Amino acid sequence: MQKTFEIDDILGLIPAFEGMDGDPELAVAHLGNALSLLHQTLGEGAWVGFYLPRERGLILGAFQGTPACEVIAYDKGVVGACYAERATIAVSDVTTFPGYICCDAAAKSEICVPTYRDGEVIAILDIDLPYVHDFSGEEEAFELLARALSSRI
Ligand code: SME
Repeated sequence: MQKTFEIDDILGLIPAFEGMDGDPELAVAHLGNALSLLHQTLGEGAWVGFYLPRERGLILGAFQGTPACEVIAYDKGVVGACYAERATIAVSDVTTFPGYICCDAAAKSEICVPTYRDGEVIAILDIDLPYVHDFSGEEEAFELLARALSSRI
């Protein structure tokens, strides 16, 4: 499989996310639709979702794609590294990441982006792609996207 999206496709989602009306009753609908749009934009075989810091670890929140690991320890995997370092972690080839956690063998590259509210990490946006992929130059677009989603989590 090959990349089928451009940075502008990612950035183009932001106005749609910001345009959601923010009614708390629609929180699940907003998040589901936002992740559906992102999932469609990234193309066949992508996985997108959130991991949320909770008592037992980073737990699976809303997502689109194949079933995934439900709890990740705070210091494990790409998701845990993202949380621990409070930084975007882009992994072009998941086989090279020490401690990588495989939820689906189809995933070949991954980017995790912390999402903040009031200075606290409230979620990790996790994106898996089904091909090795260099995210260079795309990190900022995914960070802007995560920021746009932060008020919907
Ligand atoms: N690969 C992740 C686990 C979550 S899945 O990609 C959905 C990790 O290493 O933390």
